[in-house]
This record gives sequence, C-alpha cells and structure tokens, in this order.
Amino acid sequence: MKVSAIANSNIALVKYWGKRDKEFMLPFNGSISMTVNDMFTHTTVEFDKKYTEDILIVNGKGLKPGEEDYDEYVGAFMKVVRQLTGNQTKIKIVSKNNYPTAAGLASSASGFAALSLAVSKAFGMPLNEKALSILARRGSGSASRSISAGFVEWHRGEKKDGSDSFAEQIAPPEHWPEFRMIAVITSKKEKKVKSRAGMAQTVATCPFYPKWVETVPIDLDAIRKGIKEKNFTLVGTTAEHNCLKMHATMIATRPAIIYWNPATMEVIHSIMDWRDEGLESYFTIDAGPQVKVLCMEKDSKELAKRLGALKGVDEIIVTRPGPGARFTDEHLF
Ligand code: PMV
Repeated sequence: MKVSAIANSNIALVKYWGKRDKEFMLPFNGSISMTVNDMFTHTTVEFDKKYTEDILIVNGKGLKPGEEDYDEYVGAFMKVVRQLTGNQTKIKIVSKNNYPTAAGLASSASGFAALSLAVSKAFGMPLNEKALSILARRGSGSASRSISAGFVEWHRGEKKDGSDSFAEQIAPPEHWPEFRMIAVITSKKEKKVKSRAGMAQTVATCPFYPKWVETVPIDLDAIRKGIKEKNFTLVGTTAEHNCLKMHATMIATRPAIIYWNPATMEVIHSIMDWRDEGLESYFTIDAGPQVKVLCMEKDSKELAKRLGALKGVDEIIVTRPGPGARFTDEHLF
C-alpha cells in the first residue's frame, strides 16, 4: 500500500539548540515555532516484500543504506519505527521539497514530519497529534513541531523516555493571519555543519551554553504571551534576541561555527536600519545563511521589495502561518 503525506516546514521563534539525550532526541530547552504555509515536503512511502533493501529518493537523488547521509537520518529513524512495530518489511520512500534543502530552511523538520505521518498509516498504527510529534522528534527534533498548524510549542519534558517531550499548538493560523515571515535566501549551497553536529559541538565546547539553557524559559514566556496577545513587537524583539543568543553560542565553540555569509550580514543591518526609520520588522536565522524576516502583512510588500534588491540575495519567499501535516492522494511513484 502506498501512502503519501505533506508536512510544512516550521521556523523557530525560540530556538531548539542542544540535546540532553541523543538517542531519544531530547532537548535541553523548549522551543516555539511557526509552521509556514509555503514551504513543504511531499512524501510517498510503500512497504512491500518486493523490496530487498530500503530505497530513499530525496529531490530525485538516491541515498542508500551504508551511506552516512542515509544511516544517520532516515536509516536511524526507520530503526526506531521497526523497533516500535516489530515489522521488518523494507520500504521505498520518495520525497520532494518545494524549497532549497539543508540550507537552514528546516527541511529535516518538514521531511521527518511528512515521513512520520506516512509511515504511521502504512504500518497501520494510527497516531494522535502528540504521538506523531513524539515519533517525528526521533527523526529530527524540529520535526516534532511540524505536525501541528500555526504557532507551536515543543515542551522540553523531564522524563528519560521522552514521553513528555512533544509539540502542541499554541494558536491556529487563523489566530494571527496578518503575521508574515519572509525567507531571504542568500545561498543555495548545502551547509558545511549540519545542525545535529553543530549543536553537539556547542554543548561540548561553548562556555556560554549553560546560560543559554538558563535563559531560554524567559524567552518562551515572552513569545507565548506575545502570540496570545498578538503583540508583534514583543514577539519580534524576543525572537531576534533569542536567535542572536543562539548564534553567540555557535560562534563561541571550538572550532567556531559561523553560519552567516556577507549577504546575511547585509540583511541584518538593513532590517535594523529600516526599523530605526519606522519600518518594523525583525530577523531570525537558523543553522544556515538564510534570514527569516518577521513582519506584519501591511509591511510585507515593501520589505520584500527592499530585501530582494539587497546584494547577495538570491530569492525571497513570503509566507504566513500554515497548516499541519496531512495525507494526500497524490503519490510520487
Ligand atoms: O532538529 P534539527 O536538527 O532540524 O535542528 C534545528 C535547529 C534550529 O533550526 C537551528 C533551531 C530550531 O529550533 O529549529
């Protein structure tokens, strides 16, 4: 039986950075994100005895068991699924993103959320939103947040088995339809340091890391309040601060991890200058050189025009709060 699912990407307003348990993908800190409307992964899976080994095709490129990029990600995830279900049948997975992969646009988030939903049905284990979030988390931490629509919080949890570390919706997309996020693509190259390796290096070597863990709950409280009250200034200032705090921990690792390129800096300074002039927007950046600009609908056209004209900017994607993971009848093979 073929099953297809679509899951949208999410961009964190309070970032997840650092694992307290690598096997169960348990974070040191909680995080809050927005599931975005216009960037998604479409995945089709088929379990069948005709397959002698797992097959994975992502954006037309085949990845095989035995290759690092397979074993560490989808391979490890399929091991978890097989442990949970006891079903050893091989699988074919074909997956397609409608946006650049692995360049700091949360492709692992939408990818593992779509895969979790598809696999859960194909294996006949219907899961609720919480259980799906927990399963998606085993593929990639940020994927736990792409199951739900709109504004979403991933709880850090306390338990060793991860049963209390899941994401859930804070507010649906209709709560704040004027909220916009402009993804500013400054490079389409795959990043050198994947988030998984980057966060492990930060936990191991950054002297400021304990302060990050200590202060994130303050940011979570502020963003939660800002979303509930639709206070854009509170959400924007907190998200920007939280992002810079995370990048400060990355920069202070050994060896240093600097995800920004000159165009990233150009966007940061421009946003700050325009804000001083009265055009209110804020930036957030993940483990890559792209910038995500937060603004209100009324300013989005002007900002997109100005951002698109900056040196080094390749592409602009204007998006808004979007839907959670869902099934589709459209199969990719
Ligand atoms: O779960 P991962 O491996 O995609 O890590 C995500 C890390 C950040 O994008 C930098 C932050 C976040 O919360 O999405």
